[in-house]
Amino acid sequence: MQNPAKVRGIFSSIAARYDLANHLLSGGLDFFWRARSVRMVARWKPGAVLDLATGSGDLALALQKSLPRAQVVGADFCLPMLQVAARKGLRPLVAADGTQLPFAADSFDAVTVAFGLRNMESWPDALREMSRVLRPGGHLLLLDFSMPPPPFAALYRFYLHRVLPVFAGLITGQRAGYEYLGESIEAFPSGEAMCRLMSENNFHNTQALPLAAGIVTIYTAQKPPVPFVS
Ligand SMILES: C[S@@+](CC[C@H](N)C(=O)[O-])C[C@H]1O[C@@H](n2cnc3c(N)ncnc32)[C@H](O)[C@@H]1O
Repeated sequence: MQNPAKVRGIFSSIAARYDLANHLLSGGLDFFWRARSVRMVARWKPGAVLDLATGSGDLALALQKSLPRAQVVGADFCLPMLQVAARKGLRPLVAADGTQLPFAADSFDAVTVAFGLRNMESWPDALREMSRVLRPGGHLLLLDFSMPPPPFAALYRFYLHRVLPVFAGLITGQRAGYEYLGESIEAFPSGEAMCRLMSENNFHNTQALPLAAGIVTIYTAQKPPVPFVS
């Protein structure tokens, strides 16, 4: 659970160098993680997709490329990040907070969120809001950092708290933003805990697919179908 004003401030300050920092710090693995996510979404054959916390738009653009007949809407609450996405050609873009979405219930076949939920003020509120805007039976895909199991956890913690803020600070000039990244990853539920959180907030069929030794995980879930009323 995060402070929205602080989060918006961090992403406003790093927006211009966000993509470069992402690609360098992940060693290019972020392309692979997004491509894997896109392949999973494509299997659902959605007509309308909301990419929430779209940021600089990389996942939404990859979805548009892979699903040319789908409408992919990018939404984010940080205008400088949306401006980067707009410059890369992403349309339509909506300025919106993930915990209060300006969309009618049952509007989307799929909602995707890459590295976004972790930054939101209330994970349960945001998940319930994602469920609200999904049609019954619609799909959710979350891609986010997770804590790897031992023995990688100790090594990863060293990278996260000692190495990453220094390198990221050199690339973006905003070391504090990347100190926040490590703290937010430690606080965010991983694996089973995230599946439980989704189940408690209007989703079912939850699944977790750890990648890269567990430093990121793709979670999928569905909004339950409308209960049968006789
Ligand atoms: C780490 S970036 C991820 C951007 C993009 N999805 C990607 O994969 O590169 C996190 C994004 O979440 C957005 N964000 C954080 N909290 C939000 C909220 N409550 N509502 C909407 N967007 C939010 C930030 O503005 C930022 O653009």
